[in-house]
Amino acid sequence: MLPTPYVKYDFDKVYEPSEDSFLLLDSLETDQAYLNERFAELFPVVCELGPGSGIVTTFMMQNELPAAHALYLAVDINPWAIEATLDTAKRNNCDKKLIEPIQSSLTASLRNKQVDVLLFNPPYVPAEEIPDIPETRDDTDTWLDLALVGGKDGMKITQVVLDQLDDTLSPQGVAYILFCARNKPEEIVDQMKSYWNIELIQRRKAGWEVLSVYRFSRK
Ligand SMILES: C[S@@+](CC[C@H](N)C(=O)[O-])C[C@H]1O[C@@H](n2cnc3c(N)ncnc32)[C@H](O)[C@@H]1O
Repeated sequence: MLPTPYVKYDFDKVYEPSEDSFLLLDSLETDQAYLNERFAELFPVVCELGPGSGIVTTFMMQNELPAAHALYLAVDINPWAIEATLDTAKRNNCDKKLIEPIQSSLTASLRNKQVDVLLFNPPYVPAEEIPDIPETRDDTDTWLDLALVGGKDGMKITQVVLDQLDDTLSPQGVAYILFCARNKPEEIVDQMKSYWNIELIQRRKAGWEVLSVYRFSRK
């Protein structure tokens, strides 16, 4: 079993690692050999959208996923997540790795077709509205709401990322994206499967939610 990073941050400011975070880690562990083989010869670019505490990006660095040498981008709208991601990297002796946390929204600051491994545990809880981005760092309640709520069907944020997948991923790129059952992931797979190879990597009941992680790659 691969080690899980030690995380100690103020969880009134960033999303506390939860069942969904651990399901994503387990999915990456399931795919360890696949990732090592696919990216063995490259200097891969890994990009996590919404790193929050930084647990997932640090897991990748700590366990040399997908390769011993890689560039890790970690893009979050929450300014505290930028600080937390660097803090978690440091606590786990990964601060000498090539890590670049970026405060930005989703793929807005990424160059086209450059990401080899895209990771996203999105805000997926269905809600009528997604709050506006706060004007100050101190509006921590809203930053935390933005970690959770995903608008209609909980898919508003994830859908943006899925629509941009072709522009985001490199030719050999793969994306690991987490869904809850209320996101209707089977319908999404049906809509996308003629253009993408889509594999269910892990599915787990978490309280009253059923969470799943799918891997997307080009046909
Ligand atoms: C469910 S949390 C996941 C945190 C962490 N990756 C984990 O697994 O524990 C979702 C994260 O997405 C971030 N987020 C929400 N909307 C975003 C956006 N438009 N662009 C970038 N990050 C966003 C939140 O700030 C939060 O850190």
